[in-house]
Amino acid sequence: MTNNPVKPTACKLLDIMPQTQTEWTFRVKNNLPIKHGQFMQLSLPKVGEAPISISGFGNGYVDFTIRKVGKVTDGLFSLRKGDNIFIRGCYGNGWPIEQFKNKTVVIIAGGTGVSPVKSLINMLCDDSDYAKEIYLILGFKNSHSILFADELKKWQTASHFHVIYTLDDEDYPGFQKGLVTDFIKKIPFTAFADEYECIIVGPPIMMKFVGMDLLMNKIPEKKIWMSFERKMSCGIGKCGHCRIDETYVCLDGPVFNYTVGKKLID
Ligand SMILES: Cc1cc2nc3c(=O)[nH]c(=O)nc-3n(C[C@H](O)[C@H](O)[C@H](O)COP(=O)(O)OP(=O)(O)OC[C@H]3O[C@@H](n4cnc5c(N)ncnc54)[C@H](O)[C@@H]3O)c2cc1C
Ligand code: FES
Repeated sequence: MTNNPVKPTACKLLDIMPQTQTEWTFRVKNNLPIKHGQFMQLSLPKVGEAPISISGFGNGYVDFTIRKVGKVTDGLFSLRKGDNIFIRGCYGNGWPIEQFKNKTVVIIAGGTGVSPVKSLINMLCDDSDYAKEIYLILGFKNSHSILFADELKKWQTASHFHVIYTLDDEDYPGFQKGLVTDFIKKIPFTAFADEYECIIVGPPIMMKFVGMDLLMNKIPEKKIWMSFERKMSCGIGKCGHCRIDETYVCLDGPVFNYTVGKKLID
């Protein structure tokens, strides 16, 4: 794979793992170093290009969990194992994992928002000494939109994990009914002393309300981290598509501390 940041490289599609009817994980051959929370630009010749978060990575591969919503993603959903996907990146800053070392980490994510934080959650699960305890509140619309079912089970059984999985409006085994915001009060923030950090990822409206709830719980803004999806083009700070005031979401983000991120929420 090339190191030129704007030249896409053809990479073999190793596997396709459907999560729901409209969200599939594409495993692509890759050997580049990746940071948790980064994204790549995926393209198909004569179709177009779309930024997609890295939902997982390992020896020789990278995973993208993609929702079929338009031109490029429709094209990707028509591919088969062995076909090529054109990718460039990795881009963006990723999660500030040094900040999470030896602290309790609270992660509140919704829907496809679980994708950009999934590899980080797996790292925190597999390396139980990295952080202290992990509190997860992960929400989905209904039982048909649950992503990463195998990982959800794994995280549930990790001894240093406290998980709450929610569905907006459905009773379903292993899930509580309600919005993620309904369960924030179950997190014992006062027991963490000052040694914790929070992560929020999801649709803009969810991030807005979770952010407000955390502030109401007296969580300092500097302890809150969020990841944003904005319309992008170049992905490397050149075209201005993702620019809000002086902030380039592609370059300065997609992960922002709340002190900056609160200005980017629509
Ligand atoms: C950093 C980052 C990470 C991302 N990570 C992921 C990820 O992990 N998984 C994922 O599935 N997506 C992710 N996205 C979102 C993804 O890049 C977009 O959904 C992208 O637009 C899909 O491209 P497309 O060509 O398939 O869809 P498009 O054809 O661009 O359509 C996308 C959406 O925009 C609407 N739309 C299209 N054209 C118009 C128009 N003219 N007017 C109004 N609405 C329109 C469509 O109805 C559809 O809802 C990410 C975005 C960013 C910036
Ligand atoms: S996408 Fe071009 S500047 Fe950010």
